[in-house]
Amino acid sequence: MSARLEAQHLYKVFGRRPDEAVDRLREGADRQELRADGTTAAVIDASFTVEPGEIFVVMGLSGSGKSTLLRMLNGLLEPTAGTVRFDGQDLTALSGRELREVRARKISMVFQHFALFPHRSVLENAAYGLAVQGVPRAERERRAGEALALCGLDGWARSWPDELSGGMQQRVGLARALATDADLLLMDESFSALDPLIRRDMQDQLLELQRTLRKTIVFITHDLNEAMRLGDRIAVMRDGRIVQTGSAEDILLRPANDYVASFIQDVDRSRVLTAGAVMDTGVRGDEAGCACETATPDTPFTELCAISARVPHPVAVLDGGHKLVGVVPRQRLVGFLGDQEGGATPCDSPREGTVTADA
Ligand SMILES: Nc1ncnc2c1ncn2[C@@H]1O[C@H](COP(=O)(O)OP(=O)(O)O)[C@@H](O)[C@H]1O
Ligand SMILES: [Mg+2]
Repeated sequence: MSARLEAQHLYKVFGRRPDEAVDRLREGADRQELRADGTTAAVIDASFTVEPGEIFVVMGLSGSGKSTLLRMLNGLLEPTAGTVRFDGQDLTALSGRELREVRARKISMVFQHFALFPHRSVLENAAYGLAVQGVPRAERERRAGEALALCGLDGWARSWPDELSGGMQQRVGLARALATDADLLLMDESFSALDPLIRRDMQDQLLELQRTLRKTIVFITHDLNEAMRLGDRIAVMRDGRIVQTGSAEDILLRPANDYVASFIQDVDRSRVLTAGAVMDTGVRGDEAGCACETATPDTPFTELCAISARVPHPVAVLDGGHKLVGVVPRQRLVGFLGDQEGGATPCDSPREGTVTADA
């Protein structure tokens, strides 16, 4: 399987003499040192791949370089150094016209504040990307209608944007991206402006859509919980650099440095971890107890806690072929929640506002 998207040693420097700045960054200079000369190193030496069908999340605080990175992935911004390959094609080598063609047909972008055309119907708004491609009216309306239905906007096609709530307008943005058939979606803080409940709704909807559509998605967020919910893999950015790339579990259980460790302190681990991540694999079949109630490697942590409370012995974790792959003694569960403040008893009494808020 070859990567859909491959970023190699990407740099973006704003300001004077960017090439000199890249040389200095390569020699180990950081953002602060360059800032003294009025130069901004927005992205520094970013390398990663995005696999087909994956949701790849880029997470970092405001100003860490996320949007700049994303804009280099579809050629809206030219890298100061480094390359971007999309389906093996070097975007940095394409002409302006070729790039526009790729953007129009293969890559869709969904922004934080999705601007709908106020004097066009919801359907026409959703069909906008297709109109740009020159798709005939009947076909673009059919495809836009299907995309609206996928996004839960059945029945709203003939409405005007101002009749829709903020969350629904954001769905139109998603529908516009889906209607084009582009199978690379770049989403820049697409849900960040929404109220928490609507936001969770949109996250669920995206995950649901993704199960059937299998798009390749690069999703940007400053919210770690959102990153962990959505991301197959997450790249954590700090001051222009990617400081760690890995699954939610990797980042939670093996933070690459103190910065990531401090970032994940407040994450609700019980929401992210699964039996496969917390089980003890150093066991043989006969050590698992009576195996009357068991888990699988993807059993969510909270469910595992519930099972553990019902059985007097360690929970056995069985794979698809009912083979024992690990066990989880009860005290091990507590250990994995270790970093949460006062978090020694989450299995019996979930902290309000964390575990329970999502039920
Ligand atoms: N066009 C630009 N000109 C100058 N500086 C920019 C430009 N775009 C972004 N920056 C700077 O680059 C850094 C990263 O910005 P950005 O990529 O927007 O971060 P994020 O999306 O993570 O908030 C910030 O310091 C920002 O001010
Ligand atoms: Mg941004």
